[in-house]
Amino acid sequence: MKNIYPTFHTIQSRSDKEQQLRQRGVTLWFTGLSGSGKSTIAAAVERHLADSGYYCCIVDGDNLRHGINSDLGFSAAEREENIRRTAEICRLMTQNGIIAIASLVSPTEQMRELARTIIGSSDFIEIYISTPLAECEARDVKGLYAAARRGEITDFTGISAPFEPPMHPDITIDTTGTTAVSCAEQIIQTIKSRIEYEL
Ligand code: ADX
Repeated sequence: MKNIYPTFHTIQSRSDKEQQLRQRGVTLWFTGLSGSGKSTIAAAVERHLADSGYYCCIVDGDNLRHGINSDLGFSAAEREENIRRTAEICRLMTQNGIIAIASLVSPTEQMRELARTIIGSSDFIEIYISTPLAECEARDVKGLYAAARRGEITDFTGISAPFEPPMHPDITIDTTGTTAVSCAEQIIQTIKSRIEYEL
């Protein structure tokens, strides 16, 4: 790029940061329908990891859409830009030894591949919260499914916009009939070896 002079060589390295934090950086990327339980489980994972001394940061789609992504809507192109920016944020965190916990609908294989490419596949753990549409719609915590059915929200994932289930997620969790804490425990069991610091 013209007239841009990155200073990557002068800043502390990833291994310096990981040594400081005594953990390995990684991104846990939660995907699933709206209301599937992504954010609740992400929060339970963060709580559990924090209690065990790990340093995490939640990167939540809904929250980012209030700030850095507040200019974006829900067309395919805008969702892709939402995911591109979010993945760049996760990459920065992961490269600095942080456990980034991203929670976004990220509805298509292509969008998740974009995130994986930006973050790097060895730092990207895809967690599919597979709660079925009928269950998400029955819960309808935010009332958005009802609004989408009434046609008041367009391009609503699962109703009037597609959701492609991941083909090869690292972890799949269906929240039906279980608690967020037990889902979080399953996830932590699977990822523990990826975040443990060893000299
Ligand atoms: S993504 O598709 O671009 O990854 P993101 O996770 O950031 O979506 O935002 C999804 C959240 O926005 C949902 O949980 C819901 O609260 C809200 N939302 C508002 N409109 C829509 C819509 N048309 N489709 C999906 N979610 C929507």
